[in-house]
Amino acid sequence: MMNCIRYCEETATFYLNTAHTSYAFCINELGAPEHLYYGARIPSDDLRHIRNKHVYSFVPYAGRGLECVSPDVFFQELPVANCGDFRSIALSLVDGNGKYGARMRYASHILREGRLSLPDLPYSRGIGAESLEVTLKGETKEIEIKLHYVVYPACDVIARYTEIINCGKKEIHLQKAASLSLDLYGHEWELIETYGTYQYERAAVQRTPLKYGTSGSFSHKGASGHQGNPFMAVCRPEACEDTGEVYGFNLIYSGNYENSAEVDALGNTRIITGISDYQFDFAIPAGERFFTPEAVMVYSDCGIGGMSRAFHDFVRRQIIPPSFVNRHRPVVLNTWEGCYFDVNEQKILALADGAIAAGAELLVLDDGWFRTDDNENLGDWQTDFKRFPHGLGWLSDRLHEKGLGFGLWFEPEMINSKSRLYGERPEWVVCSGDGCYLSRNQLVLDMGNPVVVDYLFERICACLSGVKIEYLKWDMNRYISEAGTSCGTQGSFFHRYIKGVYRLLRRVSEKFPALLIETCAGGGGRFDLGMLYYSPQIWTSDNTDPYTRNAIQLGTSLAYPNSAISSHVTHNVGTGLNGSMRFRYVTASFGVYGYELDAGILSEEERDMLLGFTREQKEIEPLVLDGDLYRLLDNGKFAAWALVSKDRSRAVFSFVQLRYNAMDKTCVVRIKGLDEAALYRSSGDGKLYRGGVLAHLGIRIEDLPGNTGKAVQILFERVEEE
Ligand code: GLA
Repeated sequence: MMNCIRYCEETATFYLNTAHTSYAFCINELGAPEHLYYGARIPSDDLRHIRNKHVYSFVPYAGRGLECVSPDVFFQELPVANCGDFRSIALSLVDGNGKYGARMRYASHILREGRLSLPDLPYSRGIGAESLEVTLKGETKEIEIKLHYVVYPACDVIARYTEIINCGKKEIHLQKAASLSLDLYGHEWELIETYGTYQYERAAVQRTPLKYGTSGSFSHKGASGHQGNPFMAVCRPEACEDTGEVYGFNLIYSGNYENSAEVDALGNTRIITGISDYQFDFAIPAGERFFTPEAVMVYSDCGIGGMSRAFHDFVRRQIIPPSFVNRHRPVVLNTWEGCYFDVNEQKILALADGAIAAGAELLVLDDGWFRTDDNENLGDWQTDFKRFPHGLGWLSDRLHEKGLGFGLWFEPEMINSKSRLYGERPEWVVCSGDGCYLSRNQLVLDMGNPVVVDYLFERICACLSGVKIEYLKWDMNRYISEAGTSCGTQGSFFHRYIKGVYRLLRRVSEKFPALLIETCAGGGGRFDLGMLYYSPQIWTSDNTDPYTRNAIQLGTSLAYPNSAISSHVTHNVGTGLNGSMRFRYVTASFGVYGYELDAGILSEEERDMLLGFTREQKEIEPLVLDGDLYRLLDNGKFAAWALVSKDRSRAVFSFVQLRYNAMDKTCVVRIKGLDEAALYRSSGDGKLYRGGVLAHLGIRIEDLPGNTGKAVQILFERVEEE
């Protein structure tokens, strides 16, 4: 029984409903899908009175009695180039006869329980979903387009993607293929995006009023990147963390993307999100089809926090690998920040004892197991037997005997020119030769070439075979500065590259289904839904200094759940701004927790302190995995947040002081998300507080010192009243 999607034949209107939202479009007089509404849940009535009719000059309109219908005025589900819509377009194609554009008309539709799969791309998993497929046909019948909608009622998310089918006899070319186009009434919206750079990923949350013309962000780097992110939102000017209307958008994709918000000449707003058209010219041979990546959107009238919580539920249930949903993530000790390239068998075994004393459950051997610096051997994937004479299998067995799991670092997409592979297969490199730019001393392998993917799969399997291993860190440490390929066309390069990365991730996950893959890209340079489909957690940033790390994590949490945000306590924080160890613990406990320090040199006292932290973190881990996040404070002086269990019986409240200000010797924080009528015991002072008191009056944090870095964590547990 379909509950969420309905088609009304009389008005030719499709209604897509989630628990709190509605989305509607009709098929208009031209046979085009015309958008009517997206927002708070409303009755599935006839909504066509809202249509924007042609009453303007200088816009094209349909003749023959349809003078009121203009493709440049009505709200489009699929704006196609060269078809009378001068606003931003979602699709641009050149047909087999070299002609631009294709006027598409409704032909049929199918409603489904569940969803279809999306070949070779990551996509939302369809659990509890309903879907709609609307088929449009061109006048010449050579091109068919299917608009796909997947509706997730429980978390208020609607996913969209487009399928373009070449039904003709000649090749057609796609020059733009966005995943989502959404027209919103008016332009009184503000755009929210996260910006940053290496060691500052998503820390700069930018909120700007929309202006006439186009705003947005993009990546042309071959990865979603450190600088921007495929997530964006638009909200009402008055919207804040807890109230107001917000639309959030994201793309299940890790390659070049482009997000835009255009205020058009009539003062309405068009959102477009999808693959970037940078160097994009994708040929579809006769009889074949192209699928855009899937975009997702959410509407919330409970502010930015409401949008984030909807996205978090969606990512945790519909994106990450199902076997890791709500599952304990091992507390790791990663060797990188503590040892860098200085790793060998004895050192790892000495680290293991320190790791165990600190409560870690798994040791990750990061970079350095196959090379001594970042100048050599990437691509060969051969253990350095001088440093690890007994091999990795032996080492892993010793660690397991001590009660530790084992994890290993890889960077499959990359190659050093000082490697055996480079000598043997220079043609596998995206750009090789003297004139090519280097980045971190390395070059990029052509992942769009299936032979390269086969080779890497074989090498990864060879390294892992006979090794008891639970975790793999999948890194990527440079962008693609010069695209070029020995296989396929230049215009398809970037998309084929990322599909090759996905193919390799899929093959490795299928071969080692129990393996926990943590992705990474020079810290958090590829933090997106495409990666999360294969890896339930991502290394968030190489910056672990608690002062900036809080901004990085809070920015990341706009779109991504705490359970995806990998975060470690380190000695070497990357910026010199250390903060106390407790400050670092409270900061790292925001996400998936671990350590990155030389555990071999810890004093007795330090080991005990870390063990205490690990125990505290274990108590709150269920909240990190599945709790509702409330961002309570983020004003540059303080950051505070709460994670509340779904049944509101438990919550952890965390507070950190980022800066000293003589006026702020104490600070009052309101703790939201608890059951206002219920009583909670605070682990801080042992007293009982009602949820409503915590939400509206708050608690006072005292003794903020003259230096920075006070960090407080309090657990609230509901007590039953007599
Ligand atoms: C990147 C990662 C680090 C570490 C190094 C190893 O910078 O972000 O965590 O793995 O590579 O070279």
